[in-house]
Amino acid sequence: KRLVILISGRGSNMEAIVKACKAEGWPAEVAAVISNRPDAAGLAFAAAHGIATAVVDHKAHGSREAFDAELARAIDGFAPDLVVLAGFMRILTPGFTARYARRMLNIHPSLLPAFTGLHTHERALEMGCKVAGVTVHFVTAELDHGAIVMQAVVPVLPGDDAKALAARVLTAEHRIYPQSVRWFAEGALVWDGEVVRHRDGAA
Ligand code: GRF
Repeated sequence: KRLVILISGRGSNMEAIVKACKAEGWPAEVAAVISNRPDAAGLAFAAAHGIATAVVDHKAHGSREAFDAELARAIDGFAPDLVVLAGFMRILTPGFTARYARRMLNIHPSLLPAFTGLHTHERALEMGCKVAGVTVHFVTAELDHGAIVMQAVVPVLPGDDAKALAARVLTAEHRIYPQSVRWFAEGALVWDGEVVRHRDGAA
């Protein structure tokens, strides 16, 4: 299966997926990495690994609709089976999310449905949460609300600040995002109404 990965910055999740895809027998390949920011650090990593890169700069477009139309054109040029949002920090229009329904994943650094939106680790700490985590989910029009593919839990430890907690969650991100992509690429994800499960009950 062909993947297009969208990033806005560091791209460490994209890196984890690129590395996983290089493994023998992996059922997916990264066709392209697209950023909405020309200075995204992840672009250099992708280029260095021989992956096509593109920039669709949101600042060069007058509206969300115009940006999303250009982004869709760029994505579709690589004919992906799956679009992977990896630290992609733009709100997407309903037309865009509908176009990639059931073939676009996102990773969100909380245990959804808790803490949608930004500053998840700060908010988890403010609430006194004893665990935190990360969710991979399909993207729908409503931000951070689509069907959940995989989640991982990490402990909140005494003395944690947002940075320490984010680092612990990020380790889990790098484990479950490639695994989720693999499940999709293997055709192992089965829909039951609006819910998705692994066909063998692994999730
Ligand atoms: C990750 O924590 C991801 O969950 C969130 O933004 C961060 C992106 O990190 N949406 P990276 O660009 O993948 O390193």
